[in-house]
Amino acid sequence: MCGIVGYIGKRKAVPILIEGLNRLEYRGYDSAGLSVINKGKIKSFKSVGRVSELEKKIKDNLLGQIGIAHTRWATHGKPSQKNCHPHYSCEKDIHIVHNGIIENYDELKKQLIKKGHQFKSDTDSEVIAHLIEEFIKKATLKTAVVKAVKMLQGTYGVAVISKKEPHKIIVARNGSPLVIGVGKEEFIIASDVSAIVRYTDEVIYLNDGEIAEISEDNLEITNLKREIVNNPIKKLDWTIEKSQKGGFDHFMLKEIFEQPESIRNALRGRTEKFISEDFLPTLGGLESVTKKLRKIKKIIIISCGTSYYAGLIGEYMFEEYAGIPTEVEYASEFRYRKSVLDETTAVIAISQSGETADTLAAVREAKNKGALTLGIINVVGSTIARQTEAGTYTLSGPEIGVASTKAFTSQLSTLILWTLVLGRQRNMSFAMSKKIAQELNKIPTKVEKILKKSREIKKIVKKYITVKDFLYLGRKYNFPIALEGALKIKEISYIHAEGYPTGEMKHGPIALIDKDFPALFIVPQDSIYEKNLSGMQEIKARGGKIIALATEGDKKIINLADDVIYIPKTLEMLTPLISVIPLQLLAYYFGVMKGLDVDKPRNLAKSVTVE
Ligand code: AGP
Repeated sequence: MCGIVGYIGKRKAVPILIEGLNRLEYRGYDSAGLSVINKGKIKSFKSVGRVSELEKKIKDNLLGQIGIAHTRWATHGKPSQKNCHPHYSCEKDIHIVHNGIIENYDELKKQLIKKGHQFKSDTDSEVIAHLIEEFIKKATLKTAVVKAVKMLQGTYGVAVISKKEPHKIIVARNGSPLVIGVGKEEFIIASDVSAIVRYTDEVIYLNDGEIAEISEDNLEITNLKREIVNNPIKKLDWTIEKSQKGGFDHFMLKEIFEQPESIRNALRGRTEKFISEDFLPTLGGLESVTKKLRKIKKIIIISCGTSYYAGLIGEYMFEEYAGIPTEVEYASEFRYRKSVLDETTAVIAISQSGETADTLAAVREAKNKGALTLGIINVVGSTIARQTEAGTYTLSGPEIGVASTKAFTSQLSTLILWTLVLGRQRNMSFAMSKKIAQELNKIPTKVEKILKKSREIKKIVKKYITVKDFLYLGRKYNFPIALEGALKIKEISYIHAEGYPTGEMKHGPIALIDKDFPALFIVPQDSIYEKNLSGMQEIKARGGKIIALATEGDKKIINLADDVIYIPKTLEMLTPLISVIPLQLLAYYFGVMKGLDVDKPRNLAKSVTVE
């Protein structure tokens, strides 16, 4: 996600735009830019890096009372000067800033190039400026913007200024938030209220499919049919910090609750290929290696921490649905193995930050040995993304909390899509890939259902708040989730927890169990359900307390577990996207109830760039 700020009023725009960008920098910070209108002329400054780099570039005397600004989280096109917003029309008389993902930008760009438009960037956003330039030839700025956004598929929050109508800002929204602060003879537009609260506590929220025409003393909001809408002015009582967290107490909780949207972002424009097209679909970032992927005989996944656990789930899927022998190796260990690699081996690096030193070193090792190196990365243009030959960006947006939550489920979503690509190249039927993709599209709604149980989960935490140890248990696809759940509770609440395959318990760990050493079982009604029940009986027989994650409607489990958290049913291979959510919430509430800093746990860094 990116940050948008706009200003129109009686004051100098630049200080307000810069202050707003600083407040929105948590939304994206690989580059920034702004454009200001003064005496009918537009001046624009852009800079790669933090907002402070942009500030250094701006001449002090940049006057003007109307402007738009943007801080970027790259999704299409790496962080670079040319990819910074604002983007311009050919004549540079229309400047736009955009937040969102335009799925059909490639075809729109080709159509516009045929009409003679020249593009400067690799971004999807730039097409908006050229579309408006096309339409404004015979229309007002607002009408041109309406016609332009109607051609967009995907999401947008967009702000537009133009020399042709230099006393206006036009803003439009579909899927990416935009809010208008109503000041005294001024308006401040932003992606969220953290850029506004300093100037006014009165705001108007734009809704999807709405467009606002804003001048110094007037604000008109319509829908795309040009019908006036009267959105109420809301009174804000948020501090700046609270608004950056979207009203949540911590970034971690905000990011846990963002997962329906972040999973939708990871799937947007991608799952359709496996539902509608009967030929062998692929993903944009893998197109260049499609032929090589067919020849792959072995996969090695290298990653660390939570990303390593995502890889373990990938291992099960690649073997079960694509029939490719797969290993998962801690990146920090991979470097010391004498792995047998060649051009028929694909080495996949999974990393949220794309900067983890151990994973980067392992990728370089794999490249030296001639393997095909691929990446499943969140940060666009990061070092690991640039070191690998091809890959897919998980598009989960910036993850501020040190504990990885939404990045993890976006990694899983991407691994599932890769499984469909690899499977369809081999023996997976179109019907199977369609079934999986259709169920995958339902996952965000199922995640929303679990998030509604947060109070119930909080109650369970209260009951176990004095616990010093936990055993997390799961089988097959949920064994890595047991590991991930144990890591989450360790790193957030400092409670000692171990994840184990359920079947492994009787080979030692069960010796730990007593009334003060509870076990959490992930026991959905899947192909290994009965096996899990017997594991629960072994714990119960020894007086151990049990928390069970069970499938909705499972009555049997009540006789075995002391506490049950029900999760919606889904395909076995998709269960991890569901079962991890309660474990994230458990870890979060344990940390909060113990009065710990859940966003910045002790001793941890968001990106471990040291070996
Ligand atoms: C996860 O909650 C941890 N913060 C940590 O294990 C993290 O997953 C690991 O350091 C890997 O980071 P990466 O995904 O950025 O490479």
